[in-house]
Amino acid sequence: MISFSVAIDPNKGIGYKGALPWHLKDELQIFKRNTLYKNIVMGQTTYDGLPNKLKDRYITVISIDHSYRPLDVKVEYDLIEFLKKHEDDETEYIICGGASIYRQSYSYCKKAYVSFVKKEYEVDTRFDSFDINDWEITLEEDHPDFIYRELSRKK
Ligand SMILES: NC(=O)c1ccc[n+]([C@@H]2O[C@H](COP(=O)([O-])OP(=O)(O)OC[C@H]3O[C@@H](n4cnc5c(N)ncnc54)[C@H](OP(=O)(O)O)[C@@H]3O)[C@@H](O)[C@H]2O)c1
Repeated sequence: MISFSVAIDPNKGIGYKGALPWHLKDELQIFKRNTLYKNIVMGQTTYDGLPNKLKDRYITVISIDHSYRPLDVKVEYDLIEFLKKHEDDETEYIICGGASIYRQSYSYCKKAYVSFVKKEYEVDTRFDSFDINDWEITLEEDHPDFIYRELSRKK
């Protein structure tokens, strides 16, 4: 199964200058809780922009650059082939961005972990294809700076 995890502002903003537009400690804790010891998938730009390397997760990085070989992670060079191969697996693969990877993966995702950030931020990267009407809310938690929701794709 393919799912995604994202933090998104009211204008669907997700990134600024290669990083997150915000620093929300409790949101990062939720990301950690959801992804620990799981398979996570992210684009090269997002992976290279991580302030700290993510420990205790099975990371796949998507890149078109066949000479790109970061240590300790798997690299896949064809995202769509990867998604088609794993969409019916029992094992969950969590797409963790960024914008180009979310956009191409969106229709394959059956589940989502979304933090709806309450404030508007200056952004240069959005997740425009995300539409809340495609989803049923299965869990909701109110936090001071964001509402965390788990979503299941409508049948
Ligand atoms: N708010 C959140 O939850 C969240 C989460 C993650 C990331 N972000 C933010 O999103 C921004 C980065 O997003 P981005 O869109 O610039 O980069 P990205 O999606 O992280 O990575 C794009 C990389 O993947 C490659 N790629 C794209 N499609 C591919 C495919 N089909 N097969 C193989 N390789 C492919 C691209 O190559 P080409 O360049 O040649 O196309 C590029 O190297 C950052 O600001 C980051 O902080 C936010």
